[in-house]
Amino acid sequence: MPATVVVGTQWGDEGKGKLTDLLAREMDLVVRYQGGHNAGHRIVVDGEATALQLVPSGVLYEHITPVIGNGVVVDPAVLLGELDALAAKGVDVSRVVVSGNAHLIMPYHQELDRLTERFLGKNALGTTKRGIGPAYADKASRVGLRVQDLLDPKIFRQKLDVVLHEKNLVLTKVYNRPALSAEELAATYLEQYAPRVAPMVADTVSLLHEALARGQRLLLEGAQATFLDLDHGTYPFVTSSNPVAGGACTGSGLGPRDLSAIVGIAKAYVTRVGAGPFPTELEGDLADRLVERGQEFGTNTGRRRRVGWFDAVLGRQAARLNSLTEIALTKLDVLDELDEIRVCVGYEAAGVRYDHPPYHQSVLHEVAPIYETLPGWRQDLSGVTTYDELPDAARDYVRFLADAIGVPITVVGVGPGREQFVRPS
Ligand code: GDP
Ligand code: IMO
Ligand code: MG
Repeated sequence: MPATVVVGTQWGDEGKGKLTDLLAREMDLVVRYQGGHNAGHRIVVDGEATALQLVPSGVLYEHITPVIGNGVVVDPAVLLGELDALAAKGVDVSRVVVSGNAHLIMPYHQELDRLTERFLGKNALGTTKRGIGPAYADKASRVGLRVQDLLDPKIFRQKLDVVLHEKNLVLTKVYNRPALSAEELAATYLEQYAPRVAPMVADTVSLLHEALARGQRLLLEGAQATFLDLDHGTYPFVTSSNPVAGGACTGSGLGPRDLSAIVGIAKAYVTRVGAGPFPTELEGDLADRLVERGQEFGTNTGRRRRVGWFDAVLGRQAARLNSLTEIALTKLDVLDELDEIRVCVGYEAAGVRYDHPPYHQSVLHEVAPIYETLPGWRQDLSGVTTYDELPDAARDYVRFLADAIGVPITVVGVGPGREQFVRPS
């Protein structure tokens, strides 16, 4: 049985956690394939919220094996803290496995993320300051430490000494910060973290392929989203990994033919955290109302999210970049009180119409959205349990989005709870 991918189609926080949890009922393994604890995936079960950063969202089910794939960057302190917090809530975390090839986030990565952001001043990206960019940069520069290095103290120390020498020169000479101690770092990673992480380390490539061969069902959970993708997003206002569905292969070790369904997640409007272009962005009272109703604050960072109208130009591009087979639309209920809802169906700049994002970033910064206006439904959707119960205007809105993107919408979210979704028949 091949694998299903869950991928964000906007700028993150579309509800990947909720959808992964929902689909995981029918799965055997859930795999995170990129990103790190910059992600915040919130799941609400019986009114109780769980916010996950590194642990795959299927963890709440006892039948799921949660896998942290090779494409993820792992801060062991965060991973262990998250596992402890889940265990304290009664969640069985004994099945969590981590790829030995995943890279480690080290304290100097976090320090450099903070310092670089400060150095950039008004040009800062608004990163989560979790060390994600510097950790992936070291991976690409081939000076990263990997999870498997925790299992070999000699190698760990050798690699750390080499890389820390250079990091300390940057910290002290460029940023005038104190040097970090290799002794202390090695003690923390090898004595505190390694004994707890070691039992979780696995050859996840073999694990996943053996699971496929047994006919088990795999769900690949993306973090971040298509327009935060390092290659296809609004560079440089992106994250440092590849959230697009192709990243699910490199970040897990599955081959492209192992993927069957690619489910794109889209909010019924758009949000973005941090800097970068956002053609349909709203400001003023309407933005405040959407932020308030949608509780648009970062799941882990608490930052207020920017909000805007649904952007079908991005949707169409996400359909191409990810080979989307279907879309799950979330947070339709947040639009309940609006008289009218706008949808961006194209962009216009210097007399040219764009149905897909212009490749030149300078043009993207200048585009004016072309809107179609649809009537609102002014009705509370949170208690709706079947698609047919949705008011006509809500169903028309869903159909309009599916047509504008050219991909069927197969799940519609009407509230944060695990049961709050309906499926078009
Ligand atoms: P992720 O990063 O894509 O997993 O998304 P987040 O968890 O960061 O943010 C999505 C937020 O929307 C969370 O607080 C979810 O509980 C919430 N949510 C998900 N689906 C729905 C929905 O259909 N309606 C409402 N009102 N909230 C939802
Ligand atoms: P989930 O998985 C929304 C954004 C940051 C910043 C940019 C780069 O919950 O959807 P980074 O720390 O990755 O170097 O920051 O990416 N960003 C997210 N925005 N949701 C996320 O994750 C994000 N992860 C990173 O705000 O603009
Ligand atoms: Mg999130």
